[in-house]
Amino acid sequence: MSEPSSLDGTVLVTGGAGYIGSHTVRALREAGRDVVVLDSLELGRREAVIDAPLVVGEISDRDLVSATCGDHGVTQLVHFAAYKSVGESMGSPEKYWRNNVAGSVELYEACMAAGVRDVVFSSSCSVYGTPPEVPVTETAPIQPESVYAESKAMVERILSWYGQTNGLNSVSLRYFNAAGASFDGRIGEDWTHSINLVPVVMKALLLGDRELAVFGDDYDTPDGTCIRDYIHVDDLADAHVKALAYLGRGGASTAVNVGTGTGSSVLDVIQASERVSGDPVPYSMEPRRDGDPIATFADPTFAEETLGWRARYDLDEIIETAYAWHRSQLDQGR
Ligand SMILES: NC(=O)c1ccc[n+]([C@@H]2O[C@H](COP(=O)([O-])OP(=O)(O)OC[C@H]3O[C@@H](n4cnc5c(N)ncnc54)[C@H](O)[C@@H]3O)[C@@H](O)[C@H]2O)c1
Repeated sequence: MSEPSSLDGTVLVTGGAGYIGSHTVRALREAGRDVVVLDSLELGRREAVIDAPLVVGEISDRDLVSATCGDHGVTQLVHFAAYKSVGESMGSPEKYWRNNVAGSVELYEACMAAGVRDVVFSSSCSVYGTPPEVPVTETAPIQPESVYAESKAMVERILSWYGQTNGLNSVSLRYFNAAGASFDGRIGEDWTHSINLVPVVMKALLLGDRELAVFGDDYDTPDGTCIRDYIHVDDLADAHVKALAYLGRGGASTAVNVGTGTGSSVLDVIQASERVSGDPVPYSMEPRRDGDPIATFADPTFAEETLGWRARYDLDEIIETAYAWHRSQLDQGR
């Protein structure tokens, strides 16, 4: 008799009350998967968890993880829960080693003991540091330039060792810049905790009481500002559904870039926001900031080959959904 597929069991989603996690929980439910969310709610919102049970607690709580896996028949894990601020990680490194690295080890140990076989891990394009060439392929050198990025690179390597020592299968998804909100406007990125460009542009547009600072307009790029690969959060969510399916089919452990393959400059984002809103974005040009790579965007070829995934949405759809979401939050007094 063949072994039952890990795809028949429940997916444990850590950090499922956060930005990318909440969109992924919805995508998994729409794909027919059973899901249970584990989130401390330190940076997430209970109401963002749609159509799945929420367990409130820490990833490092082995007894809780073990009980959650047992109670829900968990076979696969999607691990989002982490701190994600590059600046904070340089000021408080211990916080990042403890939560992002040590917390992940506790979680993986408890999950493996409970019979979990597959892991999809939230990694980041920041593991490449300043890439020697763009578009960035998965063979680019791993050269983290912050404690945050190092915490992601370390957990990737820990997962790779767990593959050898314990037979744990994993896909590390190296996200480029997540942005946008759900098309029905129910969930999006909470701007209170985010210093990412799109929410900051939305704040400048919608609150009108502050200016956006653009750092550097003299880079060697077409308009002089830095270039990044902005990927719609629903596209990212879909990559997790496909990565779990890949592992369930017996796919080998790997790391995959998740980006669109298109670079957009800071001014491209500002202009798209002005087009969508019909209002000017107030901004000031500031000197370059230390540690900002000039241009980074993904080569998404490997994602298509391994996972059968490619991005569906472009920058305008990112800005349209983000704008609609932030406006609705303001209308609701949030
Ligand atoms: N947003 C991006 O552009 C981006 C890019 C690359 C990688 N990532 C990674 O993706 C993941 C999700 O990012 P996000 O933007 O959704 O962040 P987020 O802060 O919105 O979500 C993280 C969630 O994890 C929870 N959490 C944190 N520590 C926890 C713990 N110890 N136990 C239980 N829950 C805990 C928080 O309460 C929060 O709900 C993170 O690992 C982040 O490093 C994000």
